[in-house]
Amino acid sequence: MEENSKIPVHVSIIMDGNGRWAKERGKERFYGHAEGVESVRACTEEAVRKGVRYLSLFAFSEENWSRPGEEVKSLMELMVKAMVNELPSFLKNGIRFIVIGNRERLDGGLNALIDDCMKKTENGRNLSLIVFMSYSGRWDILQAARRLALEAAAGTAGEQHIREMDADGFSRYLATSGIPDPDLIIRTSGEQRLSNYLLWQCAYSELYFTDVLWPDFREKEFDAALSEYAKRDRRYGKVK
Ligand code: IPE
Ligand code: IPE
Ligand code: MG
Repeated sequence: MEENSKIPVHVSIIMDGNGRWAKERGKERFYGHAEGVESVRACTEEAVRKGVRYLSLFAFSEENWSRPGEEVKSLMELMVKAMVNELPSFLKNGIRFIVIGNRERLDGGLNALIDDCMKKTENGRNLSLIVFMSYSGRWDILQAARRLALEAAAGTAGEQHIREMDADGFSRYLATSGIPDPDLIIRTSGEQRLSNYLLWQCAYSELYFTDVLWPDFREKEFDAALSEYAKRDRRYGKVK
């Protein structure tokens, strides 16, 4: 019981270090991204085994669009390939697949595939696997504020609704609406920053940084992060 209560409901991972992993082996960056997909599979399976309910992954940021066209293209192709390959195992293991981000920037074929995969897995109850694609924290807050302002201008959000809006009310406008804030955010590869990730949602997340590069981050590393999380004392500003 005690053990279980220390399992985070939502684990989020900033998957970093694919390029360096490939470089260490004298290979192209793409090779690291491809190997990173194996880590996604390993961590997803381990999350299910451990009873984590939400696993979210930062796969491609709004800023990553500025990478060389070749790399962007290969990352998008990898996403397509991974979705097609993994769909049967999502269905078999009760995994609900969700993509969040500025999807207007993704190409039509990829968007259609994402919609199909989300629809087919919508009844998955064991784990929600959320992939952040073309996402940034500031984009998310901006789109929420913009939507609210437009509702106000159109009169669909009344003055009282806006005056009484609290943090929970605003959260409903975020792209992550309905998903609990991450309890634990892991970043691999030794970088200790959020890189414009879940800026609103990370308010009380526990942060875990490891030097391990994403393609090397498997079950053992995932479990180590959960063990570290179990030792943390979350106070939320209160005195305990
Ligand atoms: C993370 O690995 C994957 C994405 C950001 C898409 P990187 O590609 O950032 O790898 P490094 O940081 O250059 O090693
Ligand atoms: C963060 O990694 C984005 C993702 C993991 C998708 P980056 O490699 O893009 O971040 P920076 O540039 O080191 O901050
Ligand atoms: Mg990086």
